[in-house]
Amino acid sequence: MDLDQLAQTAAAMVQPGKGILAADESSGTIKKRFDAIGVESTADNRRDYRELLFRSTDAMRNSISGVILYDETIRQVAKDGTPLVKLIEQAGAVPGIKVDLGTKPLPFCPGETITEGLDGLRERLTEYRGLGARFAKWRAVIDISEGIPTWAAVKANAHALARYAALCQEQDVVPIVEPEVLMDGAHDIDRCATVTEFVLKTVFQELYEQRVVLEGMVLKPNMVIAGKKSPRQASVEEVAEKTMLVLKRCVPAAVPGIAFLSGGQSDEEATAHLDAMNRIGGVPWRLTFSYGRALQAAPQKAWSGKPENVEAAQRAFTHRARMNGLATMGQWKRQLEEAVG
Ligand code: 13P
Repeated sequence: MDLDQLAQTAAAMVQPGKGILAADESSGTIKKRFDAIGVESTADNRRDYRELLFRSTDAMRNSISGVILYDETIRQVAKDGTPLVKLIEQAGAVPGIKVDLGTKPLPFCPGETITEGLDGLRERLTEYRGLGARFAKWRAVIDISEGIPTWAAVKANAHALARYAALCQEQDVVPIVEPEVLMDGAHDIDRCATVTEFVLKTVFQELYEQRVVLEGMVLKPNMVIAGKKSPRQASVEEVAEKTMLVLKRCVPAAVPGIAFLSGGQSDEEATAHLDAMNRIGGVPWRLTFSYGRALQAAPQKAWSGKPENVEAAQRAFTHRARMNGLATMGQWKRQLEEAVG
């Protein structure tokens, strides 16, 4: 393990003004996204769509620090034969790879899942590193419902995250450690805070036990937020304050950065929440984004699979990337207010 190299990569991923584009939708998930815009999910269409994102020069150079790819994408070449990984590197961003193999039902824990993919992971990491990946991602999913999450599910998922993170560091690949507490339920923000604290405490204990070096990783958590079906939605300020309180209780200062997932928040909400947290400031880690839906919903809609819409899609992506880039510095709201006058 080369800790200097790991720390350098992690620092590049969470540098001020930039954040991570999560473009690692599995074949099933990207099909769902394409279905919504009436595009057939073929390998060429998936390539064309991702190529248009990675060729958005302004966004990629100025607002995107890294891109998470899917197994198919890291092997694909652009229309002109340039590997997609090269496009990302040429823009000055770091290529990364999703390495988990998705979730399966956890036995004897109805409604809960375990993320799989540890078998053969060392060999896959070696291959991905050869293909250009400098960081990886593994997503554990924790749902909130009556009697859920159970200790069994939290513990098993945290352990798998730590096993994955240790294997990554052994291969000089920075692990993004993603324990996602879902916002799908009807729970309020305080229940999300309690569960997120429980999950993060457990994750950091497991990381310690597996000897993961905190200086060489990035945490990708959910924000502390009310469930989508909750009748009491929290304000931007409450989300920012409660998220930061939980993080301060759980995340050691040695972790260089925290890159939030958007998890089904609207584009604007995801930006506003990140901006509010960075305006509060006073925390030891960089706070940035690793958004999938909150960066891609607008360009997907603008593109709709039509070559003549590529520029409009790139403009939409660049706008969202720039707004989130401002939010990493707590400057989004101020610039918005100045623009309105
Ligand atoms: P969302 O921002 O759409 O939640 O996606 C981020 C991600 O990578 C989930 O694993």
